[in-house]
Amino acid sequence: MTYLETAQMMARTAGSLIKQRMDSGFATEEKSSSFDVVTEVDKASEELIRKGILLQHPDHRFLGEEESFVSGKPLQEVLLEAQNEPFLWVVDPIDGTSNFVQGIPGFTVSIALACRGELTVGVVYDPVLDEMFWAEKGQGAYLNGKPIQVASADQLGRSVIATGFPSNMQARGAVYNGLGRLLEQCRTIRSLGSAARHLAYVGAGRLHGFWENGLNAWDVAAGALIVQEAGGTVTDTRGEAYSLLTRDITASNGRIHEAFVSCLE
Ligand code: IPD
Ligand code: CA
Ligand code: CA
Ligand code: CA
Repeated sequence: MTYLETAQMMARTAGSLIKQRMDSGFATEEKSSSFDVVTEVDKASEELIRKGILLQHPDHRFLGEEESFVSGKPLQEVLLEAQNEPFLWVVDPIDGTSNFVQGIPGFTVSIALACRGELTVGVVYDPVLDEMFWAEKGQGAYLNGKPIQVASADQLGRSVIATGFPSNMQARGAVYNGLGRLLEQCRTIRSLGSAARHLAYVGAGRLHGFWENGLNAWDVAAGALIVQEAGGTVTDTRGEAYSLLTRDITASNGRIHEAFVSCLE
């Protein structure tokens, strides 16, 4: 099985588990604050993906959102080490937990593979719409088997931008400031509740851009490769090149990127 096939299979298997559990009761707990929740389904999804990937590729390393929270090792340290890691899987078992908890569709499973810090495979799966977005380094980006590419708008005034609201208050403040500036310049703004889905939608041309401050590698790694392979640009909010350590993500179709970044902090 190829790495891409492993990622797709695990995203689909986890996606059906999450979808099945949507209407059943599930335990929810708060992590760093009441703004930051996790459910038993997030943990079950991560466990399923971790076991499935390590069964296929036992010598690979795995970084998942929920496991990293438990292990307590500083994430930046793990990601710095990742630059030398031949195979590191970066997984968000449910991106959009708040949507999931509220019974709002639009959460995704996000699975990326980084080889010595370079993204090589990215898969974002929306189990409710059964939409599988994926990209492989140098091979383009796809939605359910069809090639996708970024939208063609070259003005912010003709662009639909998305953002999200991080649980960290400093990052939330930065999003708020960007929102104020962008609302004066772009056609409209959406917040769909999953960073991975926002990025996949930039790749598919459904959105022209997405930014959010304070995200982590598991939120954006898979989606960042999808945007790049669909012909878009991914940087931080200052326009610096994307890496696994990037927290303030900015992705667009490329044509609006300079104007977009100039509205952000
Ligand atoms: C969250 C989602 C959301 C974003 C938050 C993230 P989670 O991830 O991506 O869209 O606004 O900042 O933390 O916690 O649902 O995996
Ligand atoms: Ca979370
Ligand atoms: Ca996430
Ligand atoms: Ca998550």
